[in-house]
Amino acid sequence: MRFPGLVDVHVHLRTPGGEHKENFRTGSAAALAGGFTTLLAMPNTQPPLASYKDWRIAQTRAQEESLCDVFLMAGASEAHIDELPALAQNAPALKIYLNDTYGPLRVEGIEPLRRIFQSWSSDKPIALHAEGDSLAQAIAMSAIYDRNIHICHVARKAEIELIADAKARGLKVTCEVTPHHLFLTEADAKRLGPLGDMRPRLGTQEDIEALWRHINTTIDCIASDHAPHTLADKGLAGKLEAIPVEDPPPGVPGLESTLPLLLTAAHEGRLTYDRIQELLYTNPRRIYALPEQPQTWVDVDEKSFYVFPDHPLYTKCGWSPFEGRRMTGRITRVVLKGNTVYQDGKVLSV
Ligand code: NCD
Ligand code: ZN
Ligand code: ZN
Ligand code: ZN
Repeated sequence: MRFPGLVDVHVHLRTPGGEHKENFRTGSAAALAGGFTTLLAMPNTQPPLASYKDWRIAQTRAQEESLCDVFLMAGASEAHIDELPALAQNAPALKIYLNDTYGPLRVEGIEPLRRIFQSWSSDKPIALHAEGDSLAQAIAMSAIYDRNIHICHVARKAEIELIADAKARGLKVTCEVTPHHLFLTEADAKRLGPLGDMRPRLGTQEDIEALWRHINTTIDCIASDHAPHTLADKGLAGKLEAIPVEDPPPGVPGLESTLPLLLTAAHEGRLTYDRIQELLYTNPRRIYALPEQPQTWVDVDEKSFYVFPDHPLYTKCGWSPFEGRRMTGRITRVVLKGNTVYQDGKVLSV
């Protein structure tokens, strides 16, 4: 079976400032091993990509150092609202963080949010980390300023239902869900400890069932929210000498497990292979107006059974919350712009 080169609209590649966790080369190698040939990377780096200058430097490096196409979102910050017109012309989207999560970017209060929505004079989407009441705030801003918004990593029943209501009213709202919120629950969070901790936190069985009920309707994209942190940063360096750290950073890697998990779910009849293509290719490209990649595809053996991972992980953090999971559906080959870049467990362009 063959898919077009897939798109992950939510990854953290940690450059600049967090290169011990991931960099453009290792992150894009993980992407190819996972069947992704286009990435939208997040601006919560060090420094964050909140000024045109910092964004441009990082975007140039992304182009030079990555093994696939990488586009960087701009980050909204109250101190740099003056930068938004230039960023709106150049970046594919703006990211606003309304809740606490990893990194320094945060927007608090109605006044800065108003000014940010007014200054983003573009049809390009505003992507938001918006949990709980912040989600209602985000949808209200979209309605008031007539802007396309994209809600990141929706994880709760009430939240996916609110987004369904907003869409039914014709509001310009799209959303993504992560594989970890579709395949793991609070019980896994207990078992995994810091390796099962991310924002939003894993939900209840009821949350998961609600997300699956919306898989063919309200959910526009599946995005990995690939958020690599080293085992040392998580307080788990060397399994025997684990030193618990005070506040391990939230986030889990996902580029290499996303497609295998979805292929496994399709094998089990929980969604169709056509729907996978809509969630990982058609809708992401439409929402973010991403360029076409000629002669680019992913070959999968949808019947092949194995224990994940079927190759040494390419992400620099070197672990996955899905290690040991039984998967049906293997990525056998990835071709990018006419070149074979991944085959039989090996990225060929590193
Ligand atoms: C992300 C990270 O590590 O950058 N962490 C996470 O838990 N999801 C930040 C984010 O996406 O909110
Ligand atoms: Zn400024
Ligand atoms: Zn987030
Ligand atoms: Zn994220």
